[in-house]
Amino acid sequence: MLWISNVVHAQKKPNVVLIMTDDQGYGDLGASEALVSLQPETAYDILLEQLILAPASRQTALAQILCSTSEGTERLLGAIESGQASAVLLRDSIIRQQIGEDHPRLTALIDQLPDPSAELPALIAARHEGFHEADRSTDRGQVVFQTQCAVCHSINREGGKLGPNLDGIQVHGAERILEDILDPNRNVDPAFMLTTIRTQDGNNVSGIGARSEDGFVVLTDPSGQTHRIPEATISEQIPSHFSMMPAAYGTLIPGNDLFDLVEFLLKDGKTEAETERSQSRRRAGRRPNRR
Ligand code: HEC
Repeated sequence: MLWISNVVHAQKKPNVVLIMTDDQGYGDLGASEALVSLQPETAYDILLEQLILAPASRQTALAQILCSTSEGTERLLGAIESGQASAVLLRDSIIRQQIGEDHPRLTALIDQLPDPSAELPALIAARHEGFHEADRSTDRGQVVFQTQCAVCHSINREGGKLGPNLDGIQVHGAERILEDILDPNRNVDPAFMLTTIRTQDGNNVSGIGARSEDGFVVLTDPSGQTHRIPEATISEQIPSHFSMMPAAYGTLIPGNDLFDLVEFLLKDGKTEAETERSQSRRRAGRRPNRR
């Protein structure tokens, strides 16, 4: 963080942009967050510039950072209203909660979007059909898992703990797994429901596991960072029935990557070599002379 702040002060905008475009998935978003707290005057311009150019997978994360302050929220809504950024961003549970479900500008923009309840079943059906015909690879699926999912989920002993462990998920079958990925708000486990905290100075923090502890509210955000917010500074605590899991994988993950990912989950998070090894162990175990 210190290093980033030095760059911001010493060399100004172009270098900051350089740091931020060095795309490491969720990993380098700390740079953007540091920027908001260090240089709020220029941060919104830079973040918006980035968001407009970013691939879909990064746009949601950048928009979430913008929505962590009331000024940033205003700027994001402005960019969507003027057509620079996509209103699809507003489907994200965190962004919606941070802006406020009943914010009139939010509802107006969401009303213009096509109805997700009409789109999603068709997308899920198309992906399910495509899955059976695709040439799938667990090794490629592992890469998709590591970049998109491992921050929250673990499988085969690798990954994070923010979402449920996915060992054994293969019993759900391809169709249900596709539903869980493409429509995460369909079945949300209450233990993982999202809460947004608004503070009196206009900041928002969203995460799961919200609880009171010695005069603080503690919760964990989607990057895995735990926040401790003094209760006295909180103006509103908004629970929801939404999942913290991003609702945008339908557009974030191209069909072929999704098929590889589902294949990887169906193989219990094992690579091709690992599956081959455990199959040959099983074959060896079936030898008649072995008790
Ligand atoms: C920001 C954290 C986050 C990310 C990133 C994320 N998930 Fe999730 N996921 C969750 C949470 C929290 C739940 C549990 C609540 C729910 O059911 O929505 C969940 C639920 C699931 C479930 C249902 C699990 C069950 O036991 O029923 C599956 C399957 C799943 N995620 C797969 C994925 C895959 C595959 C990816 C990557 C493309 C992914 N998730 C990315 C947080 C995340």
